[in-house]
Amino acid sequence: MYEQISHSLLNDILVELKKKTKPQNMQFFYTRLGANFYAIYSLFNTLYGEHPDSKKHILHLVETLMHQYISRPSHLKKIDLEREKDHNWFLSQKWIGMALYCNGYADNLKDMLSRLNYLQELGVNLVHIMPICDCPEGKSDGGYAVRDFCKIDSRFGTFEDFDKLITNLKKRDMLLTLDVVVNHTSDQHEWAKKAREGDKAYQDYYFIFDDRSIPDIYEESMPEVFPETAPGNFTWDEAMGKWVMTVFNRYQWDLNYRNPEVFIEMLDIILFWANRGADILRLDAVAFMWKKMGSSCQNEREAHLILQLMKDCCQVTAPGVLFIAEAIVAPTEIIKYFGEDAINAKECEIAYNATFMALLWDAVATKKATLLNKGIHNIPSKLERATWLNYVRCHDDIGWGFSDADIVTAGYEPLSHRRFLVDYFTGNYEGSLATGLAFGRNSETGDARISGSLASLAGLERALKNNDPDAINMAIKIILLLHGMILSFGGIPMLYYGDAIGTLNDDSYLNDESKNDDSRWIHRPKMNWEKAMQRTQPGTVEYSIFNAVKKMISIRKEIPAFADRNNRELLNVDNPHLFVFSRFDQINSSSRVLVIGNFNDEPQFLDLSPLQRMGFFQYDSIKNLCNGESLHAMNGNLMIPARSFYWLEA
Ligand code: GLC
Repeated sequence: MYEQISHSLLNDILVELKKKTKPQNMQFFYTRLGANFYAIYSLFNTLYGEHPDSKKHILHLVETLMHQYISRPSHLKKIDLEREKDHNWFLSQKWIGMALYCNGYADNLKDMLSRLNYLQELGVNLVHIMPICDCPEGKSDGGYAVRDFCKIDSRFGTFEDFDKLITNLKKRDMLLTLDVVVNHTSDQHEWAKKAREGDKAYQDYYFIFDDRSIPDIYEESMPEVFPETAPGNFTWDEAMGKWVMTVFNRYQWDLNYRNPEVFIEMLDIILFWANRGADILRLDAVAFMWKKMGSSCQNEREAHLILQLMKDCCQVTAPGVLFIAEAIVAPTEIIKYFGEDAINAKECEIAYNATFMALLWDAVATKKATLLNKGIHNIPSKLERATWLNYVRCHDDIGWGFSDADIVTAGYEPLSHRRFLVDYFTGNYEGSLATGLAFGRNSETGDARISGSLASLAGLERALKNNDPDAINMAIKIILLLHGMILSFGGIPMLYYGDAIGTLNDDSYLNDESKNDDSRWIHRPKMNWEKAMQRTQPGTVEYSIFNAVKKMISIRKEIPAFADRNNRELLNVDNPHLFVFSRFDQINSSSRVLVIGNFNDEPQFLDLSPLQRMGFFQYDSIKNLCNGESLHAMNGNLMIPARSFYWLEA
């Protein structure tokens, strides 16, 4: 948009920058800057207009964009242009992700090279390597307490290893996702050190207070993220003699985005990793980026404006790079991280579908899809050019993030239902074989989140211990059912390393003092490659899971209706155990898939007549896309085996 004030400011800025640099080949930079500058200026002005040096900062911001553009490698600039042309590329059904630690899945970045074949064998073509930046040993929060954003942790390797890996990934047509921890730094970061030494400019990078008066007011409305291990949201720093805001762990200092310098520093870091070759950047803990007294300090409007500004700036320098919002918040809030009132994502193109994940686990525990159906109906539709990241497990705990209102409409009482879920997944409910651990238990309500590997939560660990073939089989079915859902729902499925071979809980973290108070480490194991070899041995658990997931992946890639183009219809059926939705190909409307998940441990029947009246199943036989076989209805009813799913040609 052309608007005089911002346009004349931009002209002044460009004249200023021309004095300093004589850049060449800037055509694309200028067209993008021209297109986005009004938005950049407006957002910057809303956030930082009152700042005394606001003009100086916006010059610094544009200078940062320009420098990073100049240093952007030409092969990445080429990809930017390709993705601009094919701007819906990431909505395709061909993308399958896996999240992993480079020193858990492999030994380090170098060793990752020898482990890429496994990913390709499975069909994974998007790898999320969890944080690799330099962190203090023992106080790293799994890499999310960064000491130096532009240095690779020596435990993982060097930039040389990283570059080799990324070159290899590109050759294999695989995408790379990396984290940028935007909300906080380690207390050992250079900025924190300077703040500790008394440098006022750096104290303004954080929330630092002489006494408890302001922190106490904040505390009145701020929830606790890690109530057991890091209660409260402020930490006394002895050396500085002051209180610091630390929402997560005590050694993670929250950044102060009211300071424009902080914004520009973090943007520079985002662009640094974009220029290193990341295709997608996972922005960590974005819901927490704006702190306001009297509020929960989550999902504030300004946090969204910051993300919009980050996106608008990134589009100028590295438009091919996408953002993932890691905002594990209420369903109605998550959706806002795509950006509101827009068609294209104006904040993050991808967001964790934490609601779907939690609802799937609810369906496993209740053996019913009642809450799943209600909860999914209430997720507002996403924007056209945005997509979900669908997952069953990740490196974090499972929180019961659906709304109490949905629990009530599903016929349960919220408090007791949430307690039931904790009891179920910690194996304290009759009939449950799950072996999870409670995480972040709230002593007043008994509410807790859950740690544990997918296989252990699905009951495989106990079934193996009991040497019970039926229970083993049922656990495998649950694992496949959950994968069957995330692979067909619409969005990018993100598998978790180890899950395709049924990796169980690993309690070795208990021997490590820096980890033993954080039960999330139980599901962050070292990949057992000997166990992984069993995937070639028919009859083994590893074989059954790996080959079924592999097959689903390859089938998904061939079904255009599985691309995420707002082409899903949820269907109400009169069997509470079933979750049913259809996916259709907008271009070829005759290509429709009906997805049915049976969450009960008994076979269930689906009355096909209402579906036939809606135009589904007009032929005698029904094709199961997972194996090409024909299914037959009995008296108009289709039988879906226990804890199983179908992808049916409809
Ligand atoms: C994100 C990460 C989590 C970490 C937290 C604080 O939620 O996924 O592992 O503990 O941020 O950095």
